[in-house]
Amino acid sequence: MWHAGRSDSRSFYALYNRRAALNLAQCLRLDLSHIICTDLQTLGAIARTGAEPIGVIVPDLAALARIGLLANGLLNRQRMSQSGATIEYRTAGGTGARYHLELYFVCADLPDLAAGIYHYAAHDHTLRQLRAGDFRGALVEATDGEPAVAHAPVMLGVTSTFWRNAWRYKGRAYRHTYWDAGTSLSHVLAVAASAGLPTELVLGYADAPVNGLLGVDGEREATVALCAIGRMNDSTARTPTVQALDYPTRVISSREVAFPIIPAMHGASSLASGLEASTWRAEPGRRVPPAPQGTLISLQPLPADQLPPEPIEAIIPRRRSTRHFDTDVGIPFQAFSTLLDRSSRGFAADCLAPDAPPLHDLYLIVNGVEGLVPGVYLHHPRRNAVELLKEGNFRQQAERLAAQQGYAADAHMNCYYLTDLGPLLNRFGNRGYRLAHLGCSLSAGKLHLGTHTLGLGAVGSTSLDDEVTEFFSPHAAGKSYMFITVFGKRRRTSKQ
Ligand SMILES: Cc1cc2nc3c(=O)[nH]c(=O)nc-3n(C[C@H](O)[C@H](O)[C@H](O)COP(=O)(O)O)c2cc1C
Repeated sequence: MWHAGRSDSRSFYALYNRRAALNLAQCLRLDLSHIICTDLQTLGAIARTGAEPIGVIVPDLAALARIGLLANGLLNRQRMSQSGATIEYRTAGGTGARYHLELYFVCADLPDLAAGIYHYAAHDHTLRQLRAGDFRGALVEATDGEPAVAHAPVMLGVTSTFWRNAWRYKGRAYRHTYWDAGTSLSHVLAVAASAGLPTELVLGYADAPVNGLLGVDGEREATVALCAIGRMNDSTARTPTVQALDYPTRVISSREVAFPIIPAMHGASSLASGLEASTWRAEPGRRVPPAPQGTLISLQPLPADQLPPEPIEAIIPRRRSTRHFDTDVGIPFQAFSTLLDRSSRGFAADCLAPDAPPLHDLYLIVNGVEGLVPGVYLHHPRRNAVELLKEGNFRQQAERLAAQQGYAADAHMNCYYLTDLGPLLNRFGNRGYRLAHLGCSLSAGKLHLGTHTLGLGAVGSTSLDDEVTEFFSPHAAGKSYMFITVFGKRRRTSKQ
Protein backbone atom coordinates (compact mmCIF):
# COMPACT_ATOMS: atom_id res chain seq x y z
CA MET A 1 0.00 0.00 0.00
CA TRP A 2 1.40 3.35 -0.95
CA HIS A 3 1.04 6.41 1.25
CA ALA A 4 2.20 9.70 -0.15
CA GLY A 5 3.94 12.23 2.03
CA ARG A 6 0.73 14.09 2.67
CA SER A 7 1.98 17.05 4.62
CA ASP A 8 4.99 17.56 2.38
CA SER A 9 2.90 17.51 -0.74
CA ARG A 10 0.53 20.14 0.52
CA SER A 11 2.95 22.55 2.07
CA PHE A 12 3.62 25.54 -0.10
CA TYR A 13 6.66 26.42 1.89
CA ALA A 14 8.22 23.10 1.11
CA LEU A 15 7.20 23.30 -2.51
CA TYR A 16 7.82 26.83 -3.46
CA ASN A 17 11.15 27.44 -1.88
CA ARG A 18 12.51 25.30 -4.67
CA ARG A 19 14.95 27.95 -5.77
CA ALA A 20 15.60 29.27 -2.31
CA ALA A 21 19.35 28.92 -2.81
CA LEU A 22 19.30 31.89 -5.16
CA ASN A 23 20.96 34.96 -3.77
CA LEU A 24 18.21 36.99 -2.14
CA ALA A 25 19.60 40.11 -3.77
CA GLN A 26 18.40 38.64 -7.02
CA CYS A 27 14.86 38.30 -5.67
CA LEU A 28 12.64 41.14 -6.59
CA ARG A 29 9.98 41.85 -4.04
CA LEU A 30 6.62 42.52 -5.65
CA ASP A 31 4.81 45.16 -3.70
CA LEU A 32 1.21 44.17 -3.02
CA SER A 33 0.22 47.74 -3.78
CA HIS A 34 0.82 46.72 -7.38
CA ILE A 35 -2.59 45.07 -7.21
CA ILE A 36 -4.49 48.08 -8.40
CA CYS A 37 -7.87 48.00 -10.02
CA THR A 38 -8.57 49.00 -13.58
CA ASP A 39 -11.65 50.33 -15.35
CA LEU A 40 -12.68 47.29 -17.37
CA GLN A 41 -15.39 45.29 -15.61
CA THR A 42 -14.84 41.57 -15.08
CA LEU A 43 -17.38 40.43 -17.65
CA GLY A 44 -15.75 42.75 -20.17
CA ALA A 45 -12.33 41.30 -19.38
CA ILE A 46 -13.34 37.65 -19.66
CA ALA A 47 -15.09 38.29 -22.96
CA ARG A 48 -11.86 39.50 -24.57
CA THR A 49 -10.01 37.00 -26.72
CA GLY A 50 -6.61 38.66 -26.24
CA ALA A 51 -6.40 39.87 -29.85
CA GLU A 52 -8.30 43.13 -29.25
CA PRO A 53 -5.83 45.80 -28.18
CA ILE A 54 -3.75 46.80 -31.17
CA GLY A 55 -0.43 48.63 -31.34
CA VAL A 56 2.55 48.57 -29.03
CA ILE A 57 1.75 47.69 -25.42
CA VAL A 58 4.52 46.68 -23.04
CA PRO A 59 3.72 45.33 -19.57
CA ASP A 60 5.52 46.62 -16.52
CA LEU A 61 6.44 44.97 -13.27
CA ALA A 62 3.06 45.79 -11.76
CA ALA A 63 1.32 43.89 -14.55
CA LEU A 64 3.52 40.84 -14.00
CA ALA A 65 2.89 41.07 -10.26
CA ARG A 66 -0.86 41.08 -10.85
CA ILE A 67 -0.69 38.15 -13.28
CA GLY A 68 1.49 36.09 -10.91
CA LEU A 69 -0.61 36.74 -7.84
CA LEU A 70 -4.04 36.53 -9.43
CA ALA A 71 -3.33 33.43 -11.56
CA ASN A 72 -1.15 31.35 -9.25
CA GLY A 73 -0.59 33.25 -6.01
CA LEU A 74 -1.70 32.58 -2.48
CA LEU A 75 -5.10 33.64 -1.28
CA ASN A 76 -5.31 35.13 2.16
CA ARG A 77 -7.10 31.98 3.27
CA GLN A 78 -5.93 28.94 5.22
CA ARG A 79 -7.54 25.87 6.69
CA MET A 80 -6.34 23.21 9.09
CA SER A 81 -6.68 19.64 7.82
CA GLN A 82 -7.83 16.79 10.07
CA SER A 83 -4.21 15.70 10.41
CA GLY A 84 -3.25 19.16 11.61
CA ALA A 85 -1.53 20.31 8.41
CA THR A 86 -2.08 23.86 7.23
CA ILE A 87 -3.79 24.03 3.86
CA GLU A 88 -3.30 27.22 1.92
CA TYR A 89 -5.37 28.15 -1.09
CA ARG A 90 -4.55 29.79 -4.38
CA THR A 91 -6.26 32.51 -6.36
CA ALA A 92 -7.17 30.03 -9.11
CA GLY A 93 -8.91 26.79 -8.20
CA GLY A 94 -7.19 23.48 -8.82
CA THR A 95 -8.08 19.82 -8.61
CA GLY A 96 -8.10 18.81 -4.96
CA ALA A 97 -6.11 21.96 -4.09
CA ARG A 98 -3.00 19.99 -5.09
CA TYR A 99 -1.45 23.00 -6.75
CA HIS A 100 1.16 21.83 -9.22
CA LEU A 101 1.61 24.77 -11.60
CA GLU A 102 4.46 27.26 -11.82
CA LEU A 103 4.70 30.49 -13.79
CA TYR A 104 7.86 31.75 -15.51
CA PHE A 105 8.26 35.08 -17.30
CA VAL A 106 10.74 35.40 -20.18
CA CYS A 107 11.16 39.16 -20.51
CA ALA A 108 12.72 41.81 -22.69
CA ASP A 109 13.93 44.95 -20.94
CA LEU A 110 10.70 46.31 -19.44
CA PRO A 111 10.28 49.89 -18.16
CA ASP A 112 11.08 48.83 -14.59
CA LEU A 113 12.48 45.30 -14.90
CA ALA A 114 15.73 44.15 -16.49
CA ALA A 115 15.54 41.56 -19.25
CA GLY A 116 15.70 38.05 -17.89
CA ILE A 117 13.88 34.86 -17.04
CA TYR A 118 11.99 35.03 -13.78
CA HIS A 119 10.17 32.44 -11.72
CA TYR A 120 7.09 33.62 -9.87
CA ALA A 121 7.47 32.30 -6.30
CA ALA A 122 3.98 32.06 -4.85
CA HIS A 123 4.96 31.53 -1.22
CA ASP A 124 6.50 34.99 -0.84
CA HIS A 125 5.13 36.74 -3.93
CA THR A 126 8.52 37.42 -5.48
CA LEU A 127 10.09 37.12 -8.88
CA ARG A 128 13.35 35.18 -8.78
CA GLN A 129 15.72 35.77 -11.60
CA LEU A 130 16.90 32.52 -13.16
CA ARG A 131 18.75 34.07 -16.08
CA ALA A 132 19.87 37.64 -16.78
CA GLY A 133 19.50 38.92 -20.33
CA ASP A 134 17.03 38.76 -23.18
CA PHE A 135 16.33 35.09 -23.95
CA ARG A 136 13.15 35.53 -25.96
CA GLY A 137 15.01 34.60 -29.14
CA ALA A 138 15.21 31.02 -27.86
CA LEU A 139 11.41 30.93 -27.83
CA VAL A 140 11.23 32.44 -31.30
CA GLU A 141 13.47 29.61 -32.41
CA ALA A 142 11.44 26.99 -30.54
CA THR A 143 8.29 28.21 -32.31
CA ASP A 144 10.02 28.82 -35.65
CA GLY A 145 9.18 32.51 -35.65
CA GLU A 146 5.59 32.50 -34.44
CA PRO A 147 4.64 36.19 -34.96
CA ALA A 148 3.10 36.82 -31.52
CA VAL A 149 6.19 35.33 -29.89
CA ALA A 150 8.55 37.35 -32.06
CA HIS A 151 6.84 40.59 -30.98
CA ALA A 152 6.04 39.77 -27.37
CA PRO A 153 7.93 41.73 -24.72
CA VAL A 154 6.97 39.01 -22.24
CA MET A 155 6.40 35.30 -22.74
CA LEU A 156 4.74 33.42 -19.92
CA GLY A 157 5.63 29.75 -19.47
CA VAL A 158 3.27 27.55 -17.45
CA THR A 159 4.76 24.34 -16.09
CA SER A 160 3.39 21.44 -14.09
CA THR A 161 5.30 19.40 -11.52
CA PHE A 162 3.18 16.32 -12.08
CA TRP A 163 3.90 14.57 -8.79
CA ARG A 164 2.28 17.34 -6.80
CA ASN A 165 -1.07 16.24 -8.23
CA ALA A 166 -0.23 12.60 -9.01
CA TRP A 167 0.49 11.58 -5.42
CA ARG A 168 -3.25 11.77 -4.95
CA TYR A 169 -4.72 11.27 -8.41
CA LYS A 170 -2.13 8.93 -9.96
CA GLY A 171 -2.09 8.83 -13.78
CA ARG A 172 -5.22 10.92 -14.03
CA ALA A 173 -3.10 13.84 -12.87
CA TYR A 174 -2.04 14.28 -16.48
CA ARG A 175 -5.56 15.30 -17.34
CA HIS A 176 -5.62 17.61 -14.36
CA THR A 177 -2.50 19.26 -15.71
CA TYR A 178 -4.52 20.77 -18.54
CA TRP A 179 -7.70 21.28 -16.52
CA ASP A 180 -5.81 23.31 -13.96
CA ALA A 181 -3.58 25.07 -16.50
CA GLY A 182 -6.66 26.23 -18.44
CA THR A 183 -8.29 27.38 -15.21
CA SER A 184 -5.21 29.38 -14.26
CA LEU A 185 -4.79 30.73 -17.81
CA SER A 186 -8.36 32.05 -17.74
CA HIS A 187 -7.14 34.27 -14.89
CA VAL A 188 -4.01 35.27 -16.83
CA LEU A 189 -6.04 36.32 -19.87
CA ALA A 190 -8.61 38.23 -17.84
CA VAL A 191 -6.00 40.06 -15.76
CA ALA A 192 -3.99 40.93 -18.88
CA ALA A 193 -7.15 42.13 -20.65
CA SER A 194 -7.95 44.25 -17.65
CA ALA A 195 -4.54 45.91 -18.01
CA GLY A 196 -5.14 46.49 -21.73
CA LEU A 197 -2.54 43.89 -22.71
CA PRO A 198 -2.96 41.63 -25.73
CA THR A 199 -2.35 37.90 -25.22
CA GLU A 200 -1.97 34.86 -27.41
CA LEU A 201 -1.83 31.28 -26.24
CA VAL A 202 1.06 29.42 -27.88
CA LEU A 203 0.90 25.64 -27.92
CA GLY A 204 3.17 24.98 -30.90
CA TYR A 205 6.73 24.92 -29.56
CA ALA A 206 9.62 22.50 -29.44
CA ASP A 207 9.30 21.09 -25.94
CA ALA A 208 12.88 20.23 -25.01
CA PRO A 209 14.45 23.64 -25.77
CA VAL A 210 11.67 25.44 -23.90
CA ASN A 211 12.07 23.16 -20.89
CA GLY A 212 15.83 23.68 -21.01
CA LEU A 213 15.40 27.43 -21.14
CA LEU A 214 13.19 27.42 -18.04
CA GLY A 215 15.50 24.98 -16.30
CA VAL A 216 12.97 22.17 -15.92
CA ASP A 217 13.68 18.55 -16.83
CA GLY A 218 10.58 17.91 -18.95
CA GLU A 219 9.74 14.73 -17.01
CA ARG A 220 9.02 15.71 -13.41
CA GLU A 221 8.32 19.33 -14.30
CA ALA A 222 7.39 20.20 -17.87
CA THR A 223 6.15 23.20 -19.79
CA VAL A 224 2.47 22.77 -20.62
CA ALA A 225 1.67 26.09 -22.32
CA LEU A 226 3.16 29.40 -23.37
CA CYS A 227 1.37 32.72 -23.55
CA ALA A 228 2.57 35.87 -25.33
CA ILE A 229 1.82 39.00 -23.30
CA GLY A 230 1.99 42.51 -24.79
CA ARG A 231 3.30 43.60 -28.17
CA MET A 232 6.30 45.59 -29.40
CA ASN A 233 7.54 46.55 -32.85
CA ASP A 234 10.98 45.09 -32.75
CA SER A 235 11.45 41.43 -33.25
CA THR A 236 13.39 39.82 -30.47
CA ALA A 237 17.11 40.38 -30.03
CA ARG A 238 19.80 37.74 -30.40
CA THR A 239 19.66 35.32 -27.52
CA PRO A 240 22.71 34.64 -25.39
CA THR A 241 23.89 31.03 -25.29
CA VAL A 242 21.51 28.97 -23.17
CA GLN A 243 23.56 27.24 -20.48
CA ALA A 244 22.03 24.52 -18.33
CA LEU A 245 20.60 25.81 -15.05
CA ASP A 246 21.57 23.98 -11.92
CA TYR A 247 19.83 25.53 -8.95
CA PRO A 248 19.24 23.28 -5.97
CA THR A 249 15.59 22.53 -5.38
CA ARG A 250 13.75 21.43 -2.29
CA VAL A 251 12.60 17.83 -2.03
CA ILE A 252 8.81 17.69 -2.35
CA SER A 253 8.15 14.39 -0.61
CA SER A 254 10.26 11.89 1.26
CA ARG A 255 9.76 9.58 -1.72
CA GLU A 256 7.94 9.66 -5.02
CA VAL A 257 6.04 7.02 -6.92
CA ALA A 258 6.51 6.99 -10.69
CA PHE A 259 3.45 6.99 -12.91
CA PRO A 260 5.11 6.27 -16.27
CA ILE A 261 1.88 7.01 -18.12
CA ILE A 262 2.37 10.72 -17.39
CA PRO A 263 5.75 11.31 -19.09
CA ALA A 264 4.69 8.84 -21.78
CA MET A 265 1.54 10.86 -22.55
CA HIS A 266 3.42 14.12 -22.46
CA GLY A 267 6.24 12.78 -24.60
CA ALA A 268 3.77 11.41 -27.15
CA SER A 269 2.39 14.90 -27.73
CA SER A 270 5.76 16.68 -27.76
CA LEU A 271 7.28 18.47 -30.73
CA ALA A 272 10.96 18.01 -31.53
CA SER A 273 11.88 21.21 -33.36
CA GLY A 274 10.77 24.69 -34.33
CA LEU A 275 10.04 23.36 -37.79
CA GLU A 276 7.68 20.74 -36.34
CA ALA A 277 6.01 23.52 -34.38
CA SER A 278 5.42 25.74 -37.42
CA THR A 279 4.16 22.75 -39.42
CA TRP A 280 1.85 21.86 -36.54
CA ARG A 281 0.19 25.27 -36.46
CA ALA A 282 0.37 25.89 -40.23
CA GLU A 283 -3.33 25.47 -40.98
CA PRO A 284 -5.24 27.16 -38.19
CA GLY A 285 -8.08 25.02 -36.90
CA ARG A 286 -11.65 25.97 -37.70
CA ARG A 287 -14.38 23.43 -37.22
CA VAL A 288 -18.02 23.58 -38.25
CA PRO A 289 -20.22 23.46 -35.16
CA PRO A 290 -23.34 21.25 -35.19
CA ALA A 291 -26.38 22.80 -36.85
CA PRO A 292 -29.44 23.15 -34.63
CA GLN A 293 -32.07 20.47 -35.13
CA GLY A 294 -34.76 21.86 -32.85
CA THR A 295 -36.14 25.16 -31.67
CA LEU A 296 -33.61 27.78 -30.63
CA ILE A 297 -34.16 29.99 -27.59
CA SER A 298 -32.33 33.28 -27.95
CA LEU A 299 -30.15 34.36 -25.06
CA GLN A 300 -30.74 37.76 -23.52
CA PRO A 301 -27.39 38.89 -22.08
CA LEU A 302 -27.14 42.06 -20.05
CA PRO A 303 -26.18 45.04 -22.22
CA ALA A 304 -22.62 46.27 -21.71
CA ASP A 305 -23.72 49.37 -19.78
CA GLN A 306 -25.57 47.21 -17.25
CA LEU A 307 -22.72 44.86 -16.41
CA PRO A 308 -21.60 44.95 -12.77
CA PRO A 309 -18.70 47.42 -12.54
CA GLU A 310 -16.26 45.40 -10.43
CA PRO A 311 -12.92 44.70 -12.13
CA ILE A 312 -11.27 41.28 -12.16
CA GLU A 313 -8.76 42.36 -9.49
CA ALA A 314 -11.63 42.70 -7.05
CA ILE A 315 -13.35 39.46 -8.02
CA ILE A 316 -10.47 36.97 -7.94
CA PRO A 317 -9.45 37.43 -4.29
CA ARG A 318 -12.96 36.48 -3.21
CA ARG A 319 -13.46 33.63 -5.69
CA ARG A 320 -14.17 30.29 -4.03
CA SER A 321 -15.51 26.95 -5.13
CA THR A 322 -19.21 26.82 -4.30
CA ARG A 323 -20.74 23.49 -3.36
CA HIS A 324 -24.02 24.57 -1.75
CA PHE A 325 -26.79 25.89 -3.95
CA ASP A 326 -30.18 27.31 -3.12
CA THR A 327 -32.69 24.96 -4.71
CA ASP A 328 -35.66 27.12 -3.66
CA VAL A 329 -35.03 29.80 -6.27
CA GLY A 330 -34.09 29.97 -9.95
CA ILE A 331 -31.37 32.14 -11.39
CA PRO A 332 -32.47 34.93 -13.75
CA PHE A 333 -32.42 34.12 -17.47
CA GLN A 334 -30.37 37.26 -18.09
CA ALA A 335 -27.63 36.08 -15.72
CA PHE A 336 -27.58 32.66 -17.39
CA SER A 337 -27.44 34.32 -20.83
CA THR A 338 -24.70 36.75 -19.86
CA LEU A 339 -22.46 34.02 -18.46
CA LEU A 340 -22.79 31.79 -21.52
CA ASP A 341 -22.29 34.70 -23.87
CA ARG A 342 -19.29 36.28 -22.15
CA SER A 343 -17.41 33.05 -21.38
CA SER A 344 -17.67 31.58 -24.87
CA ARG A 345 -16.03 34.22 -27.05
CA GLY A 346 -12.82 32.25 -27.32
CA PHE A 347 -9.16 33.14 -27.03
CA ALA A 348 -6.39 34.01 -29.46
CA ALA A 349 -4.07 31.06 -30.06
CA ASP A 350 -1.24 30.29 -32.46
CA CYS A 351 -3.10 27.28 -33.88
CA LEU A 352 -6.65 28.65 -34.18
CA ALA A 353 -8.15 30.94 -36.80
CA PRO A 354 -9.26 34.30 -35.39
CA ASP A 355 -12.98 34.16 -34.56
CA ALA A 356 -12.99 30.38 -34.99
CA PRO A 357 -15.89 28.70 -33.18
CA PRO A 358 -14.87 26.70 -30.12
CA LEU A 359 -13.48 23.21 -30.64
CA HIS A 360 -15.95 21.84 -28.10
CA ASP A 361 -19.71 21.70 -27.70
CA LEU A 362 -21.27 22.88 -24.48
CA TYR A 363 -24.09 20.66 -23.21
CA LEU A 364 -26.18 21.92 -20.35
CA ILE A 365 -28.31 20.29 -17.69
CA VAL A 366 -30.61 23.12 -16.67
CA ASN A 367 -32.12 22.59 -13.21
CA GLY A 368 -33.20 26.06 -12.21
CA VAL A 369 -33.18 28.99 -14.65
CA GLU A 370 -36.15 31.34 -14.67
CA GLY A 371 -38.12 31.07 -17.91
CA LEU A 372 -36.37 27.91 -19.09
CA VAL A 373 -38.04 24.54 -18.79
CA PRO A 374 -35.68 22.14 -16.96
CA GLY A 375 -33.90 19.77 -19.29
CA VAL A 376 -30.88 19.16 -21.48
CA TYR A 377 -29.74 21.94 -23.80
CA LEU A 378 -26.96 22.65 -26.29
CA HIS A 379 -25.34 26.06 -26.41
CA HIS A 380 -24.92 27.60 -29.89
CA PRO A 381 -22.41 30.37 -29.18
CA ARG A 382 -22.34 31.84 -32.67
CA ARG A 383 -26.15 32.13 -32.66
CA ASN A 384 -26.25 33.32 -29.05
CA ALA A 385 -28.93 30.77 -28.37
CA VAL A 386 -29.59 27.46 -26.65
CA GLU A 387 -31.40 24.49 -28.15
CA LEU A 388 -33.64 22.26 -26.04
CA LEU A 389 -32.56 18.65 -26.64
CA LYS A 390 -34.60 16.91 -23.96
CA GLU A 391 -37.10 18.20 -21.42
CA GLY A 392 -37.16 16.82 -17.86
CA ASN A 393 -35.79 16.88 -14.35
CA PHE A 394 -32.26 15.46 -14.51
CA ARG A 395 -30.98 16.40 -11.06
CA GLN A 396 -30.39 12.79 -10.03
CA GLN A 397 -28.54 12.01 -13.24
CA ALA A 398 -26.42 15.14 -12.81
CA GLU A 399 -25.38 13.94 -9.36
CA ARG A 400 -24.47 10.52 -10.68
CA LEU A 401 -22.50 11.96 -13.60
CA ALA A 402 -20.53 14.13 -11.18
CA ALA A 403 -19.33 10.96 -9.43
CA GLN A 404 -22.17 11.13 -6.87
CA GLN A 405 -21.31 14.65 -5.73
CA GLY A 406 -24.57 16.18 -4.50
CA TYR A 407 -23.78 19.72 -5.56
CA ALA A 408 -24.43 18.81 -9.19
CA ALA A 409 -28.03 17.94 -8.36
CA ASP A 410 -28.55 21.17 -6.41
CA ALA A 411 -26.77 23.48 -8.85
CA HIS A 412 -28.92 25.56 -11.16
CA MET A 413 -26.73 24.66 -14.13
CA ASN A 414 -24.35 21.87 -15.08
CA CYS A 415 -22.14 22.85 -18.02
CA TYR A 416 -20.47 19.93 -19.78
CA TYR A 417 -17.73 20.58 -22.32
CA LEU A 418 -17.47 17.75 -24.87
CA THR A 419 -15.14 17.49 -27.86
CA ASP A 420 -15.12 15.28 -30.92
CA LEU A 421 -11.50 14.21 -30.56
CA GLY A 422 -11.33 12.27 -33.86
CA PRO A 423 -11.13 15.22 -36.28
CA LEU A 424 -9.14 17.25 -33.78
CA LEU A 425 -6.46 14.56 -33.44
CA ASN A 426 -6.49 14.07 -37.21
CA ARG A 427 -5.72 17.73 -37.66
CA PHE A 428 -3.44 18.35 -34.68
CA GLY A 429 -2.02 14.89 -33.93
CA ASN A 430 -1.47 13.91 -30.31
CA ARG A 431 -0.89 17.52 -29.37
CA GLY A 432 -4.56 18.09 -30.07
CA TYR A 433 -5.16 16.45 -26.68
CA ARG A 434 -3.47 19.41 -24.97
CA LEU A 435 -5.42 21.89 -27.07
CA ALA A 436 -8.76 20.15 -26.51
CA HIS A 437 -8.44 20.20 -22.73
CA LEU A 438 -7.02 23.70 -22.51
CA GLY A 439 -9.79 25.14 -24.70
CA CYS A 440 -12.49 23.68 -22.47
CA SER A 441 -10.93 24.48 -19.13
CA LEU A 442 -10.15 28.02 -20.24
CA SER A 443 -13.77 28.68 -21.21
CA ALA A 444 -14.98 27.08 -18.00
CA GLY A 445 -12.52 29.17 -15.99
CA LYS A 446 -13.94 32.31 -17.54
CA LEU A 447 -17.44 31.12 -16.70
CA HIS A 448 -16.42 30.46 -13.10
CA LEU A 449 -15.01 33.98 -12.74
CA GLY A 450 -18.12 35.45 -14.34
CA THR A 451 -20.46 33.79 -11.84
CA HIS A 452 -18.92 35.71 -8.97
CA THR A 453 -19.60 39.06 -10.60
CA LEU A 454 -23.30 38.23 -10.69
CA GLY A 455 -23.50 37.08 -7.06
CA LEU A 456 -23.49 33.41 -8.03
CA GLY A 457 -20.95 30.65 -7.41
CA ALA A 458 -19.41 27.71 -9.28
CA VAL A 459 -17.22 24.65 -8.91
CA GLY A 460 -15.32 22.39 -11.32
CA SER A 461 -15.88 18.70 -10.95
CA THR A 462 -14.76 15.20 -11.70
CA SER A 463 -17.25 13.22 -13.79
CA LEU A 464 -17.84 9.67 -14.99
CA ASP A 465 -16.28 10.29 -18.39
CA ASP A 466 -18.01 7.75 -20.62
CA GLU A 467 -21.37 8.03 -18.89
CA VAL A 468 -21.39 11.74 -19.70
CA THR A 469 -21.19 10.98 -23.41
CA GLU A 470 -23.86 8.29 -23.05
CA PHE A 471 -26.15 10.68 -21.21
CA PHE A 472 -25.99 13.33 -23.93
CA SER A 473 -26.23 10.81 -26.77
CA PRO A 474 -27.37 10.29 -29.44
CA HIS A 475 -26.54 13.98 -29.94
CA ALA A 476 -23.11 13.63 -28.35
CA ALA A 477 -22.25 10.20 -29.77
CA GLY A 478 -18.56 10.00 -30.60
CA LYS A 479 -17.59 13.02 -28.48
CA SER A 480 -15.42 12.85 -25.37
CA TYR A 481 -16.06 14.42 -22.01
CA MET A 482 -13.50 17.13 -21.31
CA PHE A 483 -14.62 19.32 -18.44
CA ILE A 484 -17.57 20.40 -16.30
CA THR A 485 -18.41 23.48 -14.30
CA VAL A 486 -21.61 23.70 -12.29
CA PHE A 487 -22.96 27.00 -11.10
CA GLY A 488 -25.88 28.64 -9.41
CA LYS A 489 -27.09 30.78 -6.56
CA ARG A 490 -25.22 30.03 -3.39
CA ARG A 491 -26.97 28.72 -0.32
CA ARG A 492 -25.48 30.11 2.85
CA THR A 493 -24.28 27.39 5.21
CA SER A 494 -23.45 27.76 8.87
CA LYS A 495 -19.72 27.87 7.91
CA GLN A 496 -20.10 30.81 5.51
C1 LIG B 1 -10.63 21.15 -12.82
C2 LIG B 1 -11.22 21.15 -11.44
C3 LIG B 1 -11.90 20.02 -10.99
C4 LIG B 1 -12.45 20.01 -9.72
N1 LIG B 1 -13.16 18.92 -9.29
C5 LIG B 1 -13.77 18.94 -8.06
C6 LIG B 1 -14.57 17.85 -7.63
O1 LIG B 1 -14.75 16.84 -8.32
N2 LIG B 1 -15.17 17.95 -6.42
C7 LIG B 1 -15.01 19.04 -5.61
O2 LIG B 1 -15.59 19.07 -4.53
N3 LIG B 1 -14.24 20.09 -6.00
C8 LIG B 1 -13.63 20.06 -7.21
N4 LIG B 1 -12.87 21.13 -7.62
C9 LIG B 1 -12.66 22.27 -6.75
C10 LIG B 1 -11.30 22.22 -6.06
O3 LIG B 1 -11.34 21.25 -5.05
C11 LIG B 1 -10.98 23.60 -5.52
O4 LIG B 1 -10.70 24.44 -6.62
C12 LIG B 1 -9.79 23.59 -4.58
O5 LIG B 1 -10.08 22.85 -3.43
C13 LIG B 1 -9.44 25.01 -4.17
O6 LIG B 1 -10.53 25.65 -3.55
P1 LIG B 1 -11.12 26.98 -4.12
O7 LIG B 1 -11.56 26.75 -5.54
O8 LIG B 1 -12.28 27.33 -3.21
O9 LIG B 1 -10.04 28.02 -4.09
C14 LIG B 1 -12.31 21.14 -8.88
C15 LIG B 1 -11.60 22.26 -9.35
C16 LIG B 1 -11.05 22.26 -10.61
C17 LIG B 1 -10.30 23.48 -11.08
